Amino acid sequence: MTQRIAILSGRGGTGKSLLTCGIGEALADLGKTVLLVDGSQGLRSLELYMGIQEGILYSVPDLSAGKCSVADVLVQDEARTNLWLLPASQNLPTDQNLKENYGKALTIIQDGGEDVPAFDFILTDCGGSLESQLTLASLSDRPVLVVTPDPAGLRAADKLRKLTGKEPEMIINRFDSRDLARHILPSFHELQDILPLSPLGIFEENDGLRQAVLTGGDIAREMPEFNNTAERILGQNVPFPLMPEQVDREAPSGMPQVPESSGKRESFWNRIFSRGK
Ligand SMILES: Nc1ncnc2c1ncn2[C@@H]1O[C@H](COP(=O)(O)OP(=O)(O)OP(=O)(O)O)[C@@H](O)[C@H]1O
Ligand SMILES: [Mg+2]
Repeated sequence: MTQRIAILSGRGGTGKSLLTCGIGEALADLGKTVLLVDGSQGLRSLELYMGIQEGILYSVPDLSAGKCSVADVLVQDEARTNLWLLPASQNLPTDQNLKENYGKALTIIQDGGEDVPAFDFILTDCGGSLESQLTLASLSDRPVLVVTPDPAGLRAADKLRKLTGKEPEMIINRFDSRDLARHILPSFHELQDILPLSPLGIFEENDGLRQAVLTGGDIAREMPEFNNTAERILGQNVPFPLMPEQVDREAPSGMPQVPESSGKRESFWNRIFSRGK
């Protein structure tokens, strides 16, 4: 049976597209047949992360309107033959008929037929506004929040958690162990208190990843955490190599350290969640 996963964060620039691409590639490397859906109607980009340069002739609304077949619209990845892309329209306004377009297109694809791969996973990179992302997530079985450990990112995740309907899982992205060492970043247990969501992956801020995006490199192979996350999605119990508690909490020399008991940590949470008000 196909499992539909939606990757969302409610905000822009948190790493949704990069993570969708890398996790999709890793699931494909584990032998799964995977469809990546570009949910950024009006401003598609997922093909750039996948390194697909040509072959996009149709997009989601063409399929839902019956203007093309599934075989016409899907684009096969060049490196992995069991990985496919469903491109977003480049022209439609972001929110126009979003639910109808994507809902119908996904139903047509899942109904299958000749020349239609039987997908194990459909991963949607939810783009656009918070509302658009929630609309696309409502078409999934399994919403996954991309959480960046900064005040705005945590607040967005807390809000989305209450709005997605189904209990989401989370991926922490752009984690920087230096902030943890300085006691600026909440520890993983503190984070779990406030955002009690199952983690699927923890990705560090990583220059190799950034460069892979710029040069069209292979994203999944940049970090073993992509494979780990894919295995956790498949239900395997994979330990987190980067569980923040395990990171040395000694500040690197020259960096000021905010003590554990400092009022600054309390105010970190108060600022984000207006606790005690
Ligand atoms: N862990 C990371 N390490 C380094 N760079 C990262 C990391 N995660 C994301 N980035 C960079 O951040 C930028 C934004 O990432 P991405 O496009 O995936 O975000 P997005 O959530 O899809 O944005 P949008 O909402 O605009 O679609 C990219 O240039 C990407 O390379
Ligand atoms: Mg994106």
